[in-house]
Parts: sequence; structure tokens; C-alpha cells
Amino acid sequence: MWGYFHILERDTHTKARLGRLVTRRGIIETPVFMPVATAGSIKAVPPEVVTGLGTRVILANTYHLYLRPGLEIIRQSGGLHSFMNWQRVILTDSGGFQVYSLAQFRKIQEEGVHFKSHIDGSEHLLTPELALEIQEVLNSDIRMVLDVCIPYPCDRKKAKELTALTHRWAERSKNFWEKRENKGALLFGIAQGGMFEDLRRESARVIVEMDFDGYAVGGLSVGEPRDLMLEMLSATLSAFPEDRPRYLMGVGTPEDILEAVAMGVDMFDCVLPTRNARRGTIFTSEGKLSIRNAPFKNDFRPLDPNCQCYTCRNYTRAYLRHLFISGELLVYYLLTVHNLYFYLKLMAKIRKAIAEGRFMEFKADFYQRKEEILC
Ligand code: GUN
Ligand code: ZN
Repeated sequence: MWGYFHILERDTHTKARLGRLVTRRGIIETPVFMPVATAGSIKAVPPEVVTGLGTRVILANTYHLYLRPGLEIIRQSGGLHSFMNWQRVILTDSGGFQVYSLAQFRKIQEEGVHFKSHIDGSEHLLTPELALEIQEVLNSDIRMVLDVCIPYPCDRKKAKELTALTHRWAERSKNFWEKRENKGALLFGIAQGGMFEDLRRESARVIVEMDFDGYAVGGLSVGEPRDLMLEMLSATLSAFPEDRPRYLMGVGTPEDILEAVAMGVDMFDCVLPTRNARRGTIFTSEGKLSIRNAPFKNDFRPLDPNCQCYTCRNYTRAYLRHLFISGELLVYYLLTVHNLYFYLKLMAKIRKAIAEGRFMEFKADFYQRKEEILC
């Protein structure tokens, strides 16, 4: 077999696929979840622990690292891998989302996006070329083109305009990329299109025409109803080729991931497991729970009796609740380890189910368990 992406198995009842993405820093089995290391750290958990959980690839952000510590420091350190002590694969986002969600001021122009840093108010112009130059310094293994993440709601005329701009930026990115020495890094394109089915399909078609190493679905989970999100996802995927990895950006809950895998998505990233952990919200096989709940005060069971993570093997709900209520920093580590374990385990179970031809049953069973608890 030749190439960097192979489909090993296809589910017969859904569009789910089991794949293998070969990168210059190792092989990633898909569907895969990428924990988020926005500023060069998986918040509260050191890299060797993240590796120990079975993580193959993490996501870091161009926007944050460019503003702080800045390119010079990362260049001097020899790239992001050595700077943060992470040896496995790094995917970097282009800033095409963070600049819209975080910057104090932004103005989208043909050449790029002008913005003011949320850290010190300094002014910057992020262009498609600069986004790739930054990712070159970070030396990430999978890189994303600069795009415009269309807000929700957005009228059709505006969505069409911004999608066309995303296309022109993708073209510039591709041209720039071809003139550079990329040493085996992969470049992914991003389709947009707002909440319009035809614009979604058209955007996917245009981006695919430019021939990227992988294709991402952007602009989803921006406040729209879940059904609409899944419709837009389906429209986008319908125009993506079978033989390239497909990445759904910034999504989502375990249920969203199951639905998207069933539609043929291979890659995911989301802050939910890590951010929820820091807020005391835990994912379990029976749904979410909050560690602050009063009944946990003297509950000496683990967070999730079905979980084999370090936290569940060693600590009780009562102790974790005590730590959380007391503001003890250890709790952020322990809860994040559990939530990441839950997400990574979910993906491993999904891959196993696809390999064994029982993904549909697995998905139905996942929903069933949660229903039983609600009854
Ligand atoms: N992360 C979540 N959504 C998006 C998006 O639309 N574009 C980019 N670049 N990153 C994202
Ligand atoms: Zn656990």
C-alpha cells in the first residue's frame, strides 16, 4: 500500500471507516480524538501522562503561540515539539477560529485579518501566508490553512462572501505551500459555507479541487442547533473524497462524535474533556456528573465504576469533591486525566467496533446506557 492515508475497514451499515494516517512522527489510527494544547500544554497534565493515556496526536494553536511566547522563542527552542516536550504528532490550527473568538478587534480584508491581541492589545495582520510561516516555525506535522469561521447566525449573502474569501485564502495557502520546503508535513484545507446546504457542498467541492492532504469541516458548533450542525456536516462530507482524512473541527460531545463517525469523519478535537474537568464536570459511561454534587460528600466509590483510569483506580468521589471544593490544584490533574481517558477510550472502542463490524450496535448501546440512567 502506498500513501499516507489508508482505509482498513468500512462499516457496512453506516459510513464509518477505520483508517490509518501515516505522518512523519508516527501512525495515527482513525477515528481519532486530539486533545487540545492551545498554548503548548494540555492544561494541568504533563506530556508523558498524556502519552500514557494513549494519545497519538494533539492540537495546538497558531494564534496563541504567535502572540505568546512569540516565534523567536519557539525558533530558538527548535520548534514546538522540543519546546513543550511532546514527541508525538502535533496538528496546528491556523488561527482562523481563535482570531474570531478571542481578538478584541478584528477586520477581515482581502489580504488577511487585522486584529488586536487579547493579551496586550498589540495590532497584527494575519494572512494565509503568515499563518503557514508560523506553523513552519512551530514545525507541526499537520497544518491548517487560514479560513474565515462564519458566525451564527449569518445571512446567505454574507456567508457566501466569506466562503468565497476562504476559498481565495486556501488558493493562496496552496501556492505558498508549494514554494516551501515542507519535509513531509501535511497541509489540510477547510470547507466553510455557513448554514446553507448548497454553499456547504460548493465550498467542499472548491477546496477539494485544490488538492489538499486532508479536508476539514469548519464553522460548525458555533451556536447552531444540533440537527442543523449534522445536516451541514453531511452536506460537506458528501463532496469530500473517500481516500483522504476528514477532520471535524472543534466538535464535540461523545454523542456528536458517534454521529459524525457514522457519517465518515476520521478526526476530532474539542476542549470539552479538558475544560469540563476544570469546571468539575465528569464524563462517565452513564452520562455527565458534577463533582460538586452534595451526595458525593460521603460517596467512596470511584468517579465511574467502569473506568480503569489512574484517578478511578486510586481516588473516591468524596475525596475528589473535597479537593474541588477546597480549590486544591491536584483535582485539575485528576479530573482531566479521567475525562481524557474517557474520550480516548471511547475512540478506541469505536475503532474496535468498526473493525469487528458492529459499530451500529455499539452506537445504539451507547445511547441505551444513558437512557437507562435517565429512567
Ligand atoms: N476550530 C473550530 N472551528 C473552526 C473553524 O471553522 N476554522 C478553524 N480554523 N478552526 C476551527
Ligand atoms: Zn476514570
